Amino acid sequence: MTSTSFTVTPWEVKGEIDYEKIIKEFGVKRIDEPLMHRLSKLAPLHLFLRRKLFFAHRDLDVVLDEHEKGRKVVLYTGRGPSGHTHLGHLVPWIFTRWLQKAFKAKLYFQMTDDEKFLVKDLSLEQTTNYAKENALDLIALGFEPHDTKIIYDTEHIRELYPFALKIAKRTTFSTAKAVFGFDNSTNIGLSFFPALQAAVAFYAQQQVGMAGGEKAADAGKNVQCLIPCAIDQDPYWRIARDAAPYLGYQKPATILSKFLPGLSGPAGKMSASDAANAIYTTDKPEDARKKVMRAFTGGQPTIDEQRKKGGNPDICTVCQWLNLLFEEDDDVMQQRLKDYRAGKILDGENKKYLADKVVAFLEEHQRKREKARDVIEKYSLTA
Ligand code: TRP
Repeated sequence: MTSTSFTVTPWEVKGEIDYEKIIKEFGVKRIDEPLMHRLSKLAPLHLFLRRKLFFAHRDLDVVLDEHEKGRKVVLYTGRGPSGHTHLGHLVPWIFTRWLQKAFKAKLYFQMTDDEKFLVKDLSLEQTTNYAKENALDLIALGFEPHDTKIIYDTEHIRELYPFALKIAKRTTFSTAKAVFGFDNSTNIGLSFFPALQAAVAFYAQQQVGMAGGEKAADAGKNVQCLIPCAIDQDPYWRIARDAAPYLGYQKPATILSKFLPGLSGPAGKMSASDAANAIYTTDKPEDARKKVMRAFTGGQPTIDEQRKKGGNPDICTVCQWLNLLFEEDDDVMQQRLKDYRAGKILDGENKKYLADKVVAFLEEHQRKREKARDVIEKYSLTA
């Protein structure tokens, strides 16, 4: 979707995003209080739900109905490996781990090394290497090999291809153009790619059905797929949902997040191409600290003014990172926002408060990430 002030497509997110407008135009639903309440019965609500980072969905109510009836749920998410992982990429993965425990579900995770080769100025070797590097970050979040399967597209294409073909046959170029903005300059690899990303939803359902003893031909038709991801991926799920009846599967459901703002300003998402705007899981903790200390804030030009007039947390990336990611305690967070507005918390202190949390997170994550190298093979789809 492109509007006058912002763009949100699977390959480009920029500008000041109006999420209300997106909900309307994409035709997704807000995660409302009754849904939150139903989710809270599965597990204490995750921070990302409480702070509304995950804010929209398609058919989440259906997933909850099916789950309550005892039906199986399978989770599907993924990553386009175009570089190292930054904290914005971790958001849906962290949340997926929560969903996995809540629904006791298997996860299929797609690494689209093919997609990023097609859209970026990267070699296939680079994108397949990044896929393995990014997988370390996923594993470091605590996923376990018995219920987490990583699909590397170029390696596991054979598994996905029959599903992708069936989807591709049902998807016209005119639909793909409308949904993805393809034009005559789009390479033909990319024009087929959406079928592959959609394919995993059905593949995952089939695999769970087969694990339950069903025959391959119609396995998984009663399994419900739930896709946690950022809202820019929604166009793929429109293709998948349209194709579902032809393949005989349930339409995949989605739970959709906003973007984590970058550190250099409130607009857009934390872009992977602006190194100071994002914190990478591979950054040295002290470099990450420096990035936080240089972040865009909602403060005033001078300390005196900030004491008098207070800061504006709505445009402050430091406040937002605390609120969305790093300050788990709701009461503490509310108090800090109040104090920031009142000029009682100044930027220097606020940044240091965040930086300490970011450094602590990175140190632990990086330890786990290194350990993941020993077990990465166990997570491969074909392990
Ligand atoms: N296209 C996604 C990206 O560029 C990667 C991806 C593949 C994905 N399958 C997914 C993301 C499922 C979310 C859910 O990052």
